[in-house]
Amino acid sequence: MALEIIVLAAGQGKRMRSQLPKILHPLAGRPLLGHVLAAARALSPARTVVVHGHGAEEVRAAFPGPAVEWVLQAQQLGTGHAVQQAMPLLSAQADVLILYGDVPLVRVETLRGLAAAGREGVGVLTADLEDPAGYGRIVRDASGRVARIVEHKDASPQELALSEINAGFMALPARRLAAWLAKLTNDNAQQEYYLTDVVGLAVGEGVPVTAVKAQAWEVAGVNSRRELAQLERQYQKLQAERLLEAGVTLADPARIDVRGELVCGADVAIDVNCVFEGGVSLGDGVRIGPNCVLRNVSVAAHTEILAFSHLEDSAVGARCRLGPYARLRPGSSLAEDVHVGNFVEVKASRLGKGSKANHLSYIGDSEVGANVNVGAGTITCNYDGAAKHK
Ligand code: UD1
Ligand code: CA
Repeated sequence: MALEIIVLAAGQGKRMRSQLPKILHPLAGRPLLGHVLAAARALSPARTVVVHGHGAEEVRAAFPGPAVEWVLQAQQLGTGHAVQQAMPLLSAQADVLILYGDVPLVRVETLRGLAAAGREGVGVLTADLEDPAGYGRIVRDASGRVARIVEHKDASPQELALSEINAGFMALPARRLAAWLAKLTNDNAQQEYYLTDVVGLAVGEGVPVTAVKAQAWEVAGVNSRRELAQLERQYQKLQAERLLEAGVTLADPARIDVRGELVCGADVAIDVNCVFEGGVSLGDGVRIGPNCVLRNVSVAAHTEILAFSHLEDSAVGARCRLGPYARLRPGSSLAEDVHVGNFVEVKASRLGKGSKANHLSYIGDSEVGANVNVGAGTITCNYDGAAKHK
C-alpha cells in the first residue's frame, strides 16, 4: 500500500519570541521543516501533506514546488484536529505516517521502523526520558502492552512518574485513522482534540499498538531558542562523528559546523572553528587551517588553506596554497599549484596553473594565465562607474 505522510506544523511557537514562524528557524542552515521534509522524502511517499497555520504564506513560500501539498488549519484545536484537516487529501487505502514539523533530527531508519509497525496496526514513536515533564506518557497494561497515552496535564501522579514518553509521531492505516478521528472529543484539560486518544480507541478495538523506541535526541522538539541551540549542537556532534568515522582528522570535534553537505576524501585534516556551508567537497590530503569559512566550494587534492580564509562559490585545483586571510568570491577558479596569499581577494577570475598572487591584491573579472606572478599590491581596476569589464 502507498505511504502518505502528514506533517503537523500549524503551531505558533510562542516561546521562540520571534517574528519568524518557528518551523522556518534554521538548524544547520536549513529550516526545521526542511529537515523533516528531507526525512519524509527519503521514504518515497506517494504524497506529503503539511498542515500549517501560523505564518502560512511565509511558510509556503519557503518550500515552493509540487513536492508537498498544503492544508491550512486556521485555528489550532489540537493535534487530532490538525490531522483531520489533512484527511480529505489522503487516499482511503493509504498507510499514513504522521510527523511534526518542529522535530528535525529523527532518523530515516527510525521512521521506516515506525511505518512498518503502522502496517501491523498502530505504530507510536516513544523514548525514555530522564525528564519527561510536559510530554504525553505511554501507559502500559499489566502485561506491558501499550494501553493508552495520557497527556501531562491530564495525568495522575502515578502516570507522571512514567518515563516513557510519546514523541507524537504515529503510523497507521488511513481507513482506521479516519474512523477514530471521528470519535475524538475535546473533553480534557486543554479542551483540544488529542491525536493521542487514537491509541486508546485502537486498544479498545483489539488493534495491536506497537511502541517504536527512538533515541531521546531524535524525538526532541524545538519550542524555544534554547532547545534550538541544543539541537544544533546535537546535529553538529553527529556530523563530526560521521566525519571522524569516515577518516577525517578534526582538531576538535566540538569546534566544526557543517551547514550543508561536506564530502571529504582520504586524510583530510580540519583545524578548529571552521564553517562549511552548502555543498563543499575536499579532495585527498586537503588541509584546512583554523577559522576558515567555505561555502559551495570544491577543493582538489593536497591543497592547503591557511587560517582565516573565506571561500565562496569557487573551485580550487590540486596542490594550491591559500591564505592566511585569502578571500575567494563567487566565480573564482584556480588551476593546480596556484598560490593566493594574505589579503588577496579574487572575484570571478581564473588563475592558471602555477600562478601566484601572494600579497595584498584584488583580482576581479580577470583571466590570468599559467605561471603568472602578480606582484604585491596589484589591483585590477575594471569598473568605469557603470559597468565592469573583463
Ligand atoms: C503532543 C502530544 C504529546 C507528545 C508531544 C511531543 C497530543 C495531544 N499530545 O503534545 O503526547 O508528548 O506532542 O512533543 O498530541 N499542531 C498543529 N495543530 C494543532 C496543535 C499542534 O499543527 O492544533 C502541531 C504543532 O505545530 C507541533 C505538533 O503538532 O508541530 C505538536 O504540537 P504541540 O502543541 O507541541 O504538542 P503537545 O500538545 O505539547
Ligand atoms: Ca511541542
